[in-house]
Amino acid sequence: MGTLSSSAVEGTAAEVLVRADTLGAISEEPARLTRRLATPALARAGDLVARWMTEAGLTVRRDAIGNVVGRLGNADVPPLVLGSHLDTVPDAGRYDGALGILLALAVVQRLRARDALPDALEVAAFADEEGARFGVPYLGSSAYAGRFERDWLDLADVEGVTLRDALGELGGDPESLVSLPEPRLAGYLEAHIEQGPVLEREGFPVGVVSAIAGQTRAVLTIRGRPGHAGTSPMAGRHDALVAASELVLAVERYGRESDGLVATVGSLTVSPGASNVIPGEARLSLDVRHADDEALGQAVAGLRHAATRIVTTRGVELDWTTLQSTPAVELTPALRVRLASAVAAAGLEARSLASGAGHDAVVLARICPAAMLFVRCAGGISHDPRESVAQADVAVAIDVLEHAVVGA
Ligand code: GLV
Ligand code: MN
Ligand code: MN
Repeated sequence: MGTLSSSAVEGTAAEVLVRADTLGAISEEPARLTRRLATPALARAGDLVARWMTEAGLTVRRDAIGNVVGRLGNADVPPLVLGSHLDTVPDAGRYDGALGILLALAVVQRLRARDALPDALEVAAFADEEGARFGVPYLGSSAYAGRFERDWLDLADVEGVTLRDALGELGGDPESLVSLPEPRLAGYLEAHIEQGPVLEREGFPVGVVSAIAGQTRAVLTIRGRPGHAGTSPMAGRHDALVAASELVLAVERYGRESDGLVATVGSLTVSPGASNVIPGEARLSLDVRHADDEALGQAVAGLRHAATRIVTTRGVELDWTTLQSTPAVELTPALRVRLASAVAAAGLEARSLASGAGHDAVVLARICPAAMLFVRCAGGISHDPRESVAQADVAVAIDVLEHAVVGA
């Protein structure tokens, strides 16, 4: 393993896992890990990461959305950025996002110890990749990349709290996000758990990501007519939830019947929400993904058509708001080669694989070369508290990233 010591890598990997446990305990909820954008829990997690960055010798800055960025080296040199996201889905695992940040910190510590730090490096902990609170993913990395859109400040969570108000409540200046400049970066390297079964099935501890599937996220509001559950005859009802249920089944059917397509309704809110009131309103999230942009566009158009047919038949109204649509992204060939060489330098075969999950690299790839390293996770399980990674695989990831940063 070249100049790197393997027993020391194991020690650093153990420390990464301890830190993942510590971060995983910082949550909005007492009994499970939920850490969404613009919450005190995310700010506390940011405080901890900022402390670790400072201890690693990085100069820390934070922006109004909650990104935590540690920098070292020459301010005039475009840095290589290592990082991932600090937010989570509700009832999350400890590694989705967090692992990439902790691996980046581990690499900085190790490079510093052997006096091999590059001229300029940043470690980024992005405040939102999941879109779990406001529906739109990548809000943190978009702010970092100088691509934050003013309209996003008006996004509201299910309680009606806007992003503007939530950020203001935490003491930031939300308007400042709109004018953040696009940074000059040498490249972006993100390590992330695979969140799928391929590496485990084929016996690879890590893999190099080739491309990231495109995705469309929308919120669908169905408005019917509320009424008394005991006195309203079944015949004349305009039940928003029944229409929504038909729509959920249509979404599943689309996903099953179109090759390569995945389509999910992950959240459903019913109003007014009492057992003896006919649902007057139902609000659904929609998440549709495909590796091929044309197939994704056709599926979304088809689903829209199906939704219109369902609401017309049921005499209810539909408001379809597309929150974000991102095309599939091919990661940068030259940086992938550098990562693959680093995998080879660690004595391993570089398995290349595509990502069905979204990642901050989607946004960073718009402004600089971007590549990703996947780390095998048990059972391909993710977005679930059972998420887990092996210490030995974390050690491999540290080794590979370290080689990649110094140029393999
Ligand atoms: C992020 O994990 C996503 O792909 O939704
Ligand atoms: Mn993630
Ligand atoms: Mn995720």
